[in-house]
Amino acid sequence: MNKFRDIKLLSVNNEKSLIDDAYIILQNNLGKNYIDFDSFWFYVKNNQVLVSINKKEIVGVLIIELTTQENFFNKYNIKGNVNNCRILNIQTIAVKYYKQGIGTALINYCISNYSKYVNIIFTPLWKSISGTNASRLFQKFGFIPFTIINNFWYKDSLGKEGYCPICGSPCTCSVVIYYKVVN
Ligand SMILES: CC(C)(COP(=O)(O)OP(=O)(O)OC[C@H]1O[C@@H](n2cnc3c(N)ncnc32)[C@H](O)[C@@H]1OP(=O)(O)O)[C@@H](O)C(=O)NCCC(=O)NCCS
Repeated sequence: MNKFRDIKLLSVNNEKSLIDDAYIILQNNLGKNYIDFDSFWFYVKNNQVLVSINKKEIVGVLIIELTTQENFFNKYNIKGNVNNCRILNIQTIAVKYYKQGIGTALINYCISNYSKYVNIIFTPLWKSISGTNASRLFQKFGFIPFTIINNFWYKDSLGKEGYCPICGSPCTCSVVIYYKVVN
């Protein structure tokens, strides 16, 4: 795992090719329509994109959001008691080379560096007919399921052929939100 410990925030001052490489990892893993470049650029500008670099090559990407539980619940339309605790939302994670510890190193970095600022870490994970991606990885760190949102991308995917890399269009995948209390 040590070789993937070079993890940093991507910045608008980084070379364009580096930013493109990070974007391509997301597209290759999560589908071409998962995130458009303008949204990705917005996350870069807002210091929300962490990358794992090995010998100058980007090998993993993670998008984070520091927010409140209330905002997070509103964003995902979750009903329930809200208080104003601070949360870290690990929105997305994707790696270039599987099963080499890159994902583990990225999550480890997040927990070590952001736990002091938040009370809970949430992560919405993509659940398709093939299973819930990354659930084993997050469970290893003590994350547990919080709620499931069925047909999460259904409306967005209508009429967009090839929207989802698993079910196409319409997309009937769900999101399972996992969480871990850190403070
Ligand atoms: C989910 C994802 C990020 C995991 O990343 P990863 O870098 O492969 O994860 P790790 O290598 O840290 O751990 C995965 C497994 O590899 C094992 N592993 C870690 N280092 C290893 C090594 N050097 N040799 C062999 N196996 C290793 C881990 O023990 C773990 O095993 P487990 O499945 O039994 O728990 C990656 O699979 C991915 O990009 N998926 C597509 C995108 C996605 O679905 N993202 C989540 C939804 S938003």
